[in-house]
Amino acid sequence: MASTLQGYLDCSATTPLAPEVAAEMAHVQASAWGNPSSLHGYGVAAAEVLERSRQRLAMALGCSGRLCFSSGGTESIHLALLGAAAQLWSGNGQAPRLLISAVEHPATNAAAERLAALGWQVERVPVTQEGLLDLEAFQQLLAPPTRLVSLIWGQSEVGALLPLMEIAQRCRQAGVLLHVDAVQVAGQQAISFDALGVDLMSLAAHKLRGPRGIGLLLTRPGLELQPLFGGGGQEGGWRAGTEAVALIAGFALAVERRHRLLSEAPEAMVQLRDPLLQQLLDLPGLSLSGPDPSQQPSARLPHHISLLVRSDAGLPLSGRAVVRQLWSQGFAISSGSACSAHGDARSPVLTAMGYDAATAASGIRISLGDWHQPSDLHGLPEALRRARLELST
Ligand SMILES: Cc1ncc(COP(=O)(O)O)c(C=O)c1O
Repeated sequence: MASTLQGYLDCSATTPLAPEVAAEMAHVQASAWGNPSSLHGYGVAAAEVLERSRQRLAMALGCSGRLCFSSGGTESIHLALLGAAAQLWSGNGQAPRLLISAVEHPATNAAAERLAALGWQVERVPVTQEGLLDLEAFQQLLAPPTRLVSLIWGQSEVGALLPLMEIAQRCRQAGVLLHVDAVQVAGQQAISFDALGVDLMSLAAHKLRGPRGIGLLLTRPGLELQPLFGGGGQEGGWRAGTEAVALIAGFALAVERRHRLLSEAPEAMVQLRDPLLQQLLDLPGLSLSGPDPSQQPSARLPHHISLLVRSDAGLPLSGRAVVRQLWSQGFAISSGSACSAHGDARSPVLTAMGYDAATAASGIRISLGDWHQPSDLHGLPEALRRARLELST
């Protein structure tokens, strides 16, 4: 069983640390290990690295508002939704509405359920069969009592990308606050937060070759949030707890590194993905789920392929079985999203896109990394052909 990085095709789940990010983190951990709140030199050294990293991230991501560090995408999403909702409604008078899409990450669904328990009305905007937001339904639902919207910008399982500028403009016109889950998009395209016109945006370092355990919430200037928990008052009171300075420094370098690579070769991922996708679609029994990049290039994450797998008899095969079979041939891919890998085999995302139960359990996802060369991918179509044959018999 091979376990080289060449066969790792699951970058939407997480990515390996970039070597220079690992080196930077080791350096910061050794040289600025103090508590940034301490008044002595050790603390000052750590606080300097912390604030410099924050400034570097603000600059790289074009954010003139506050940046709040968290433990990852899940926590950022909870802080955004619960923190903003508490400022919008105190629980008196008519219940406000939160809009999310029918294909959110479980973290957003969980935060929305918490708000529902507090009295908010939660409405899920339907998606098309490609997983794209139904813009007409969205526009209608933007009317009062909607006060807050949270949408996944790049859908992790089927790769669908929102037309974010247009959506942000509609939210502004309606006077509704917009939070964006950009966890899959960060690292795949340069983000300029202020220019997008959104209010809140969640990111996680581990999807872009930074460390696990560190996330970020970007906010529009002047926006207020109620913290999720109290304590030492770090992060301007928004997120108590001693800051993870080395992880934060690694995050800053990881974002700068990805933005540099994107500016040097903006189409690198698409050029790697599209020939592979074509080869895979030429195989029998494989069809695309989510937007077709040959028809709508800007509607799909550039590193992302999602497929439905059928037997020769046309019956849906188990996506999980395909994943296990491929791993025995040295390729690491995923069925649906990693976060739902222990639950029901039917993907809620494919179900929301209108697929029947058996088909909704037949999805696989291949997501590429910035170290991949075309030659790393040459064996995959043959491996998938073999996996399908083995599982069909
Ligand atoms: C779109 C999306 N949102 C949120 C998350 C949660 O991020 P984390 O695992 O860093 O908490 C993920 C992780 O898979 C994701 O893909």
